[in-house]
Amino acid sequence: MTLFDVYPINNITITKAQGSYVWDDNGTRYLDMYGGHAVISIGHTHPHWVAGIEEQLRKIAFYSNSVNIPLQQQLAEKLGKVSGKQDYQLFLCNSGAEANENALKLASFHNGRKKVVAFNKSFHGRTSLAVAATDNPKIVAPVNETDNIIFLPFNDEQALEECFTRYGKTISSVIIEAIQGVGGIIEATESFLKKIRSLCNDYHAVYIADSVQDGYGRSGSFFAHDYAGVHADIYTMAKGMGNGFPVGGILIARHIEPKHGMLGTTFGGNHLACAAALAVLEVIENENLIKHAKQLGEDLFERLTRTEGIENVRGRGLMIGFDVPEELKDLRKNLLYNQHIFTGEAKPNVIRLLPSLAISNVQADEFMDALQEEIEVAAALKGVER
Ligand SMILES: Cc1ncc(COP(=O)(O)O)c(C=O)c1O
Repeated sequence: MTLFDVYPINNITITKAQGSYVWDDNGTRYLDMYGGHAVISIGHTHPHWVAGIEEQLRKIAFYSNSVNIPLQQQLAEKLGKVSGKQDYQLFLCNSGAEANENALKLASFHNGRKKVVAFNKSFHGRTSLAVAATDNPKIVAPVNETDNIIFLPFNDEQALEECFTRYGKTISSVIIEAIQGVGGIIEATESFLKKIRSLCNDYHAVYIADSVQDGYGRSGSFFAHDYAGVHADIYTMAKGMGNGFPVGGILIARHIEPKHGMLGTTFGGNHLACAAALAVLEVIENENLIKHAKQLGEDLFERLTRTEGIENVRGRGLMIGFDVPEELKDLRKNLLYNQHIFTGEAKPNVIRLLPSLAISNVQADEFMDALQEEIEVAAALKGVER
């Protein structure tokens, strides 16, 4: 049997990981400034996380949602405390797309409406409705196409108001990333998020904060939407939630009421996933990782803005992007193969930094030195003086 070849991969085989480093099968060490695509929140193979999973594995890994699973309640309480959203309800699932799919569906159950407002350059996942709300026609199959999604320009308050004036009574939800990740680290303005909040209030639509990538402390706040001082009706989460253990979830405001059978999943909320997610939150709390992400992120941001050769540095906390000019078009590849540093990309020319929230100052220095070296090598090759 062969693998279904859908991923353009780097020809590197990772066999070991610890903290912000991974090692390949030749023993070469790499600095992970990509966090395995924003997934590694507390650091690879964190001992507390490993112990939590190991301990749970010896007791029970899985039983279905047909019995009490007290770990789910424990997770809900810890999540409420760490995120500051004590008054929300938690539904557990397995991935980011599934979280968004459930959020969009729940909004529609709640207000009986069909239209969803989404934004240009958004990415919400690959399940049916999540992908329909994703602004990338290449990954929308004919069966996913629907007239129910209205795409609007990002940060365009006037377009949003006009849309609500026209379709307001049929709009079920607005789904938005506070910081678009796949779209290239583009931040929503505070005023835009506030506008969404007030229009959703006025028209009884549901504000869905897709926090799959920018949530879980990555932005320096638990949810990136927090910087606008607004509360969403539903927050969706995945990536950092399990530090690599597949787990997702949605936080649901109290006014959205559950009914038996309206949502469901076989694997979501299983014992092992809850143990992993609990361990992540304990580490975030004990090691003060959100504050650390904010401080280290600000420092990194400031140093990057002073770095000649790269452009348009943007983002918050440890979710940072910058543009790479044509003369540095191989920068990401060179960082990987010459400097042994993983970074993320957003096409066509954006480098994304999404390291573990526990990355150290020394590792940030290591990245900055390597970046500087690659910029200088590229400039020397071009004969450009910097
Ligand atoms: C903002 C956002 N939403 C949803 C998803 C989908 O998550 P998953 O790949 O876990 O389904 C992603 C994945 O990159 C994402 O960045």
